[in-house]
Amino acid sequence: MKILIIGTGYVGTATALALAHMGWNVTGLDKEDRIITLLNSGHLPFFEPDMEEFLQKQLGKGNLRFTTKAEEAIQNQEVIFICVGTPAKEDGSADLSYVKMAAETVARYMRNYTLIVNKSTSPIGTQEKIVRWIRDAQPKKGAVPFDVVSNPEFLREGSALRDVLQPDRIVIGSDSHRATAMLRHLYQSMKCPMLVTTPRTAEMIKYAANSFLAVKISFINELARLCDKVEVDVKDVASGIGLDPRVGGSFLQAGIGYGGSCFPKDVEALLHTARSYHGQLSILERAAAVNRQQQVYALKQLKKIIGSFQGKTVAVFGISFKPGTDDLRESPSLHLIRRLLQKGASVAVHDPVARLPQELGDEGVKQYETPERAAEGADAIMINTDWPDYRRIDWKKIGEVMREPVLFDGRNMLDKGLIIEAGFQYRGIGR
Ligand code: UGA
Repeated sequence: MKILIIGTGYVGTATALALAHMGWNVTGLDKEDRIITLLNSGHLPFFEPDMEEFLQKQLGKGNLRFTTKAEEAIQNQEVIFICVGTPAKEDGSADLSYVKMAAETVARYMRNYTLIVNKSTSPIGTQEKIVRWIRDAQPKKGAVPFDVVSNPEFLREGSALRDVLQPDRIVIGSDSHRATAMLRHLYQSMKCPMLVTTPRTAEMIKYAANSFLAVKISFINELARLCDKVEVDVKDVASGIGLDPRVGGSFLQAGIGYGGSCFPKDVEALLHTARSYHGQLSILERAAAVNRQQQVYALKQLKKIIGSFQGKTVAVFGISFKPGTDDLRESPSLHLIRRLLQKGASVAVHDPVARLPQELGDEGVKQYETPERAAEGADAIMINTDWPDYRRIDWKKIGEVMREPVLFDGRNMLDKGLIIEAGFQYRGIGR
């Protein structure tokens, strides 16, 4: 099958690689020259474990290429995936302008029947909109038949390759037998359940999945605050309830709150959808509020040990929104750094992969190459991203170079006993 992927961000690139790996003939299309040049030379425009080697391997097989030339890329494709961004608008709703642009470009250049697959996270009703946009933009003479289906993506940053090669499930929202049969054929080598449903349902599943996980995180984060009061370790509580398969142990790690390019945006978008239908998702509303408060709570906990932030130096370990990525979008760590600066603290940071944004550098924040250097002379360390590297630190040694050996474990990732043994005052979330 000849397949085109429009948009070569995380989802587009990972999808292109998975489909090329399955043996299909894949082209990736993007507007940005820089990205296409990088990809064609076997390099990724972002950090993602193991993906660069995999890209080089697929390029070597000869059935994968990347281009900026829309007309040439679109004509004579059998399947076209739309994998463009759907950023949040001011009111929380998803901005579909890139999806619309992609649909109109496809309409202009497709020559034969084409199956258009929307993988961009987009609100309920988007598949119908794409059909309309394509119809309206097709040339009057020579309009060709097409189908549009919704096929949401569930990959996570940091494990994107594994997630696309071995997905938990494939969801197809289709109202055309022909389209469904084509996608079944396309994904024939995948060994996971396939759910075929209506386009609207598929679109809802994507938002419901992210929202449910966000609720799970906020549930454990709020419970962690109570655990602090009643002197109970939330980690043990999470293990104890997670062993029940009806609850499940994942996404029960209390910390400084969820971030990234998906959860915050998708939760707001679903809330916006509910409001626009005069409905309410009160549990999800609370989950979003708990997530916002979680950072305030984290700083309050640290303040209990160090008193005021004024004139203090805080070493922040980890700036990406989660480990395994250099993505800083909606990173709780960056939000916390800004709050620390507002409260008069100086901030030194370390991150094994992510680079500090210029704007924070201009405000005096410095990034160091090792955790030890970042901690020199600090009044406290805050672990904001649970990079496994931080488990291997010699905490006794690091404590000796600090002004005060205080550690706030914002991801509950360390063995509390060992840290106290190394001479630290330790605080986590709900421990
Ligand atoms: C999320 C979903 O997990 C994917 O299934 C989905 O495809 C993706 O969004 C998307 O819509 O594109 P991602 O944002 O890459 O993936 O990262 P997650 O692993 O879900 O983590 C999100 C945030 O929650 C991170 O800030 C993480 O630190 C936080 N988190 C996660 C917790 O605070 N506690 C947990 O127990 C788990």
